Amino acid sequence: MLAANLSPEDQAIQSMPDVSPTKWHLAHTSWFFETFVLGPLDPGYRVFDSAFAYLFNSYYEAVGPRHPRPERGLLSRPTVDAIGAYRDHVTAAVLRLADTAGDAVWREATSLIELGLHHEQQHQELMLMDIKHVFSVNPLLPAYQAPRPCPVPSCGPSPSWIEFAGGLCEIGHNGRGFAFDNEGPRHKVWLEPYRLASHPVTCGEYLDFIADGGYRRPEFWLSEGWACVQQYAWQAPLYWRTQDGEWRIFTLAGERRVEPAELVCHVSFYEADAFARWAGRRLPTEAEWENAAADLRLTGNLADSQHYHPCPDAGGGGAAELRQMIGDVWEWTASPYVAYPRFRAVAGAIGEYNGKFMSNQMVLRGGAAVTPPNHMRITYRNFFAPASRWAFSGVRLAEDI
Ligand SMILES: [Fe+2]
Repeated sequence: MLAANLSPEDQAIQSMPDVSPTKWHLAHTSWFFETFVLGPLDPGYRVFDSAFAYLFNSYYEAVGPRHPRPERGLLSRPTVDAIGAYRDHVTAAVLRLADTAGDAVWREATSLIELGLHHEQQHQELMLMDIKHVFSVNPLLPAYQAPRPCPVPSCGPSPSWIEFAGGLCEIGHNGRGFAFDNEGPRHKVWLEPYRLASHPVTCGEYLDFIADGGYRRPEFWLSEGWACVQQYAWQAPLYWRTQDGEWRIFTLAGERRVEPAELVCHVSFYEADAFARWAGRRLPTEAEWENAAADLRLTGNLADSQHYHPCPDAGGGGAAELRQMIGDVWEWTASPYVAYPRFRAVAGAIGEYNGKFMSNQMVLRGGAAVTPPNHMRITYRNFFAPASRWAFSGVRLAEDI
């Protein structure tokens, strides 16, 4: 369990408004089952604590009022132990429902339980993102876990460019198996011929951008990005700092030297875009990314490897091929997070899950080293605000042919 090596004190901290305390995640994911499965479908369900509906509702307007997000770190109560008892109570009730529900109720429950499980997986990734930020602001720089060395890089393919013919293509989920609503409907897109870089950008390449004045030269930056550089004094990715003339990086295994061969991570969309302009390239669109990834196997450095950090490419293969598309780092795309053609959010509170966030965010693709492996799909659309840096976000370059 992800919280097993965290103390109750660790689990209560909120280090910035985007971060939630570990214990809030633990309670909120059970609240989801209580609110959307047990409340509507089990007439015999006994609410564990009526105050929790207010404390652990994240953003569902249709469900009722909620505790302000930036104040989640002020909740010294309920305790970690009380939240553990809440989780046990809800889990037992869902299992009881599985044993006792009639066919009609169970049919309705299964799709909601499946959504609740995928929701919980999203929060597993958020817990790792959030505890990393919590530990990073502690001067003691605590480590979440002991270092787990990556496979030693072999003499894999050197960085190259992979060509795609484009034309009339289809993207989006085809409706078979689980997907979030925002992944569909499947639809046609027109792509001009393009190339994708075989690898995401490495720390070594990003160090060249920094050394060339990347953070001091406005010509590379979107206007809002340049405003962020100045307002937040950005000089490097989140979790990087210099000490005695050397770049160091904070990871879930503590702080260490920046490794040039591993992928750059924790950059904003603005930094990804500025790097691309500096390199004379651009970011891929999400349709270009998905079209290129269509036949890839869903394997890579995902959360089951328990590195919880991108690794250097372990090599393999001979011909030029796309590497590290799945796992390691979420790849920023040039695509705004908007509805696909003919998208309709489902009715009711569950319709608030994805659809209402379709403004002022950019899409990321491919999963990261903290993403549960069976949570990943080629069609998966992650999204964050363009200035956001606490996700495990990196860069893959594209160019026109
Ligand atoms: Fe949630």
